Amino acid sequence: EARQYFSRELLAWYQRGNRDLPWRKNKDPYRIWVSEIMLQQTRVDTVIPYFERFMANFPTVQALAEAPEDEVLKCWEGLGYYSRARNLQAGAKMVMELYGGIIPDDKESVAVLKGVGPYTTGAIMSIAFNRPEPAVDGNVMRVLSRYFCLEDDIAKPSTRVGIEKLAASLIPEGAAGDFNQALMELGALVCTPKSPSCLPCPVMEHCEARMAGRETELPIKTKA
Ligand code: ADE
Repeated sequence: EARQYFSRELLAWYQRGNRDLPWRKNKDPYRIWVSEIMLQQTRVDTVIPYFERFMANFPTVQALAEAPEDEVLKCWEGLGYYSRARNLQAGAKMVMELYGGIIPDDKESVAVLKGVGPYTTGAIMSIAFNRPEPAVDGNVMRVLSRYFCLEDDIAKPSTRVGIEKLAASLIPEGAAGDFNQALMELGALVCTPKSPSCLPCPVMEHCEARMAGRETELPIKTKA
């Protein structure tokens, strides 16, 4: 049915070929964490050189925890939202103190780190540890709102919670990391906000919004 089709075709599309991004080189949880924090408010193209430089300067949790704050902020200069850098370093210090420098393969332990919300927890758990946790950001809410023709206001927390449950139910067995990144990839490259490229979309055939000709009307979002 439409859900199984979605999960299978989207995963297959991603596995046939995806962008060769520096944080996809390995599954080091620290690298995934840093990349996801950078990607929260900044586009992929902008993040790439910052990510490479950040990892060269602070290659491990310990290196980041022990670095002078001004060096960390200097490395972040130009990316904006500097609280992200401060939180990341505070989180690195927590990982040193609480977990001996090892990011734990445990959702509750990751979720308490400074600056790590539900999205980042899900991204780390799924991408680094392949745990079946949803990672729902604005891109993912857009993709799922369209595919399932969901008319709930995505600005509402209850909508996000519902979409998180839906996203969790769609994760194919054993492929959480790839599937969640496939959703992000589709939102970034195909199911874009203004003029989605439906023809090359791997799941167009069963997309409810497309079938109703409403892909540009969804998702519904009241406040900015
Ligand atoms: N945006 C957020 N996380 C991402 C990831 N892992 N790859 C590409 N874009 C993203």
